Amino acid sequence: MKNNQWQASAYTEHAAFVSSMATEVVSLLAPVAGESILDLGCGDGQLAEYISAQGCLVSCVDASPSMVSAAKARGLSAALANGNKLEFSNHFDAVFSNAALHWMLDPEAVLEGVYRALKAKGRFVAEMGGQGNISALLKAMTDVFSENKDFGTFNNPWFFPSESDYRRLLERTGFRVDSIERISRPTPLASGIEQWLAVFADSICADLNAQQKKRFFTQVKVRLVGTLYSENDGWVADYVRLRFKAVKDSTD
Ligand code: BEZ
Repeated sequence: MKNNQWQASAYTEHAAFVSSMATEVVSLLAPVAGESILDLGCGDGQLAEYISAQGCLVSCVDASPSMVSAAKARGLSAALANGNKLEFSNHFDAVFSNAALHWMLDPEAVLEGVYRALKAKGRFVAEMGGQGNISALLKAMTDVFSENKDFGTFNNPWFFPSESDYRRLLERTGFRVDSIERISRPTPLASGIEQWLAVFADSICADLNAQQKKRFFTQVKVRLVGTLYSENDGWVADYVRLRFKAVKDSTD
């Protein structure tokens, strides 16, 4: 499966909701001045910039060179890293992540890396897509692939766990789960469904030519107009969040 080719400028323009709807997870993080915090999958760095402005020492990592450049352009310390292979050890008071963990398909490896990166008593606070996230969107995309045999196989690039599955993963890694909840959060797409697909389904379309991509966008849109579009609200995606706080109680 190919990776999403993120373009930070398109992300900032068409996916501003990713940061603007993250108020609750930032509140759950409750950053305290002086703390050392890792932002895992920092995107364009908007939330890291806010956390940094609270007086924290923020380190950003992302798998996309374009996002790392965008975060650096905000004056943040940012580096390219694969979330499945974090190399920090006993370094951070907190690890924070918003809308990124569902792109990392080896959750055990991610959690081991996060656990190792934290100091004793450190916390992991994150929000990601939870079970049922974008289910209408996913169904439309898979249906369009199965009806267009020339598109090849549909590869789902995301991992949307249930609370119980993710709690088990956290506990198996050694975390104590302070809170975990799954929340339905319909998400208005101000730039429309095609821009959402262009930004987020890039890896799904990686092997399609320009004509096939256009057909994919059109057919997905036609399938979803009855469920995700209304005259009053425009396009609203069927997001479901998994939000949690987990603590590293031990010193390992
Ligand atoms: C999400 O934040 O839930 C998400 C974003 C893009 C694609 C899939 C999920």
